[in-house]
Amino acid sequence: MIKVLVNGAAGKMGLAMSAGIAAEKDMQIVAACDVRNTGRCLGELCGADIKVVIENDLQKAIEISEPDVILDLTNPQVVKQNVITAVRNKVPVVVGTTGLTDDDKAELAVMSLENNAPVFIVPNFAIGAILMMRFAAEAAKYMPDVEIIEMHHNQKLDAPSGTAAMTMELIAQNREPHIQGAVNEKEKIAGSRGGDYEGIKVHSVRLPGFVASQEVIFGGTGQVLKIRHDSISRESFIPGVLLAIRKVQSLNGVVCGLDSVM
Ligand SMILES: NC(=O)c1ccc[n+]([C@@H]2O[C@H](COP(=O)([O-])OP(=O)(O)OC[C@H]3O[C@@H](n4cnc5c(N)ncnc54)[C@H](O)[C@@H]3O)[C@@H](O)[C@H]2O)c1
Repeated sequence: MIKVLVNGAAGKMGLAMSAGIAAEKDMQIVAACDVRNTGRCLGELCGADIKVVIENDLQKAIEISEPDVILDLTNPQVVKQNVITAVRNKVPVVVGTTGLTDDDKAELAVMSLENNAPVFIVPNFAIGAILMMRFAAEAAKYMPDVEIIEMHHNQKLDAPSGTAAMTMELIAQNREPHIQGAVNEKEKIAGSRGGDYEGIKVHSVRLPGFVASQEVIFGGTGQVLKIRHDSISRESFIPGVLLAIRKVQSLNGVVCGLDSVM
């Protein structure tokens, strides 16, 4: 039985992932931390059978519950300190929270090895999205003309999405940079041909109704290949979170990306 402490348990991700963990036979939530909803029962908040009260002191919660793994789903301002607390207590930690910089990762890597406490940083828990990127990188070896359409909800602030940017980087490793489309093409409306990364075009759609979708379209002689992933709800992250929790104890130092254990 893997004993899990969920940090940021009262947040949108924390509640959804806690319910997912509670449904598993090989893991159990032994503690939950957050700075809001302190003193409330996590099970009542997320509608699952979890008899754990939310606490607001991570250090104290670790000492009392002695978790095997900490899952951090907090926010970019506090994530580094949370990871340091986990590592100093020699507890392996899965980090779903965004915001750790390359410098942070380098610093944490040293601490992680010194304390023998692995840190697994997972920017995207959606297994389907990881597979989409892997398959797209493979397809680019044989079909190097490719465009990406990524579709997200209309509150998203950055474009293209992190997943689209990562997909382009992976594709670029398997494809020579080249101009796509007609050399003398003209845009009648600026931006119609999308953004450009080494000749790969990317188009960002922002509309209510979408959660997170991406289509990678490869064009070849007489054929078109489309690889598409849709995150329909937050539950899409649960299988990836469970996989990360099961794998983190066997890792060394700082490891990034779910693909490293798939
Ligand atoms: N890796 C992925 O696949 C993935 C997917 C979705 C979201 N995220 C990331 O997960 C994080 C959480 O997202 P969310 O939508 O649940 O946000 P949220 O704001 O709903 O939840 C964050 C929670 O952290 C709590 N918190 C803040 N400071 C804290 C502290 N010092 N100690 C304990 N708890 C603290 C907040 O009170 C809140 O309940 C964000 O960084 C988000 O970008 C990652």
